[in-house]
Order: sequence, then structure tokens, then C-alpha cells
Amino acid sequence: MLIHTRRLLLRAVELDDAQFLSSLINDPQITETIGAYSLIYPVSIDEERKWILQTQSRTDEKHMIIEMIKNHSPIGIITLKNIDKRNASAHLGLLIGQEYWDKGYGTEAIIELLETAFEKMNMRRIWLKVDEENARAIRCYEKCGFVFEGVLRQDHIKDGEWKSSLIMSILRHEFERVKI
Ligand SMILES: CC(C)(COP(=O)(O)OP(=O)(O)OC[C@H]1O[C@@H](n2cnc3c(N)ncnc32)[C@H](O)[C@@H]1OP(=O)(O)O)[C@@H](O)C(=O)NCCC(=O)NCCS
Repeated sequence: MLIHTRRLLLRAVELDDAQFLSSLINDPQITETIGAYSLIYPVSIDEERKWILQTQSRTDEKHMIIEMIKNHSPIGIITLKNIDKRNASAHLGLLIGQEYWDKGYGTEAIIELLETAFEKMNMRRIWLKVDEENARAIRCYEKCGFVFEGVLRQDHIKDGEWKSSLIMSILRHEFERVKI
């Protein structure tokens, strides 16, 4: 199933996306914001292919390529992981190529994925973890209706310094307000 927004298409990740994903994940501007959690070494196209194959069979996480409708260019990836059906909760993740930042694409993709999560998947709570210094991401999440929930104090190291993460979340009834 494809998910459409005004300007974007959220579609399944295909093996052919490996090159795009490795260019995204190896961009220093992006690794600076998310790399502190997991990335240390460059990621090869082959590694991306393996990752795509592994994730395609998982039911507890779903990754979608964010594509521009007008020219079919991939601009990012959006993810629901830790999908917990019993407790109706999932963890949102998002990466957009830097030439597309600050144009509202992140907000547009998130709002549509929240709609799918709450209305079609019957989720009740979507949450995320964000580096305390990632002001752009925090602003984007606030625009989508996420609220601050707590701090994971000094949970990751960045450039030799211990940094904290913020936990943010949105509940189904709060999303109703955001949509209006
Ligand atoms: C974070 C990210 C997903 C947001 O997507 P986006 O398309 O750039 O977001 P939007 O354009 O919808 O919203 C960004 C908002 O942040 C604002 N912003 C940008 N830089 C900012 C800063 N330094 N401080 C505060 N706000 C800032 C923008 O002005 C915009 O707000 P506005 O619409 O009120 O003007 C994207 O920038 C990205 O992928 N960054 C790198 C990876 C990353 O950080 N992922 C998130 C990990 S938790």
C-alpha cells in the first residue's frame, strides 16, 4: 500500500534504494545528528542491501522511502519500529537528505504516518528519542504534536562529550487536535 501526502509518497524500501540510503547515512551532516547513537564507520552499499533484506521480513518495524511525487526522487526514510501491538505503541524514526531540510517535508511525512498509525494500525502512542541538541528535529516533532516526556540523561557520547536524549510522544487523542 502506498501512502500519499500533498507532495510526497511513502513507499516500501526496495533493494535498488541501497545506494540512496548509503549516501544518506554516510552524509556527515546526518551522522552528526543521529550518528551518536549507532553509526561510527562508513556504511557500504552492500551493507545497506543486507539491511534492506533483513528488515523486509520483520513485523516489529516498518521502513518507508519518502519520495517526491513530482519527480519520484527519494528524499528520505521514515520508520516505525518497536511496533508493540499489545500496548499499541511504536517508535518513530526519520531521516531526510539535507538539501530538503526546512521545507516542511518532515512534518508532512510524519503527520501522514501518524494518521496511518492511529487510524489504520490502531496505535495509541507514538514516541521517539532525539538528541537534546537537534533543535531542527525537536521543532519538527513539536509541529506534529509531539510533547516532551522525559530525559535520558547522558545516554550517548558525541565528539567526546556525554549528551542527553529527549523522549517525546503523541497520543491518539492529541493527534485529533493536531489534524484540525
Ligand atoms: C529532523 C528532520 C527529519 C526534519 O525534517 P524537515 O523536513 O527538515 O522538517 P520541517 O521542515 O518539517 O520542520 C523543521 C522546522 O525546524 C526549524 N528549524 C530549523 N533549524 C532550526 C534550529 N536550529 N532551531 C530551531 N528550529 C529550527 C525550521 O524552521 C522548521 O520549523 P518552521 O516550519 O516552524 O519554520 C530532517 O531535518 C532530518 O532528517 N535531519 C537529519 C536527521 C535527523 O536529525 N533525524 C531525526 C533524528 S531524531
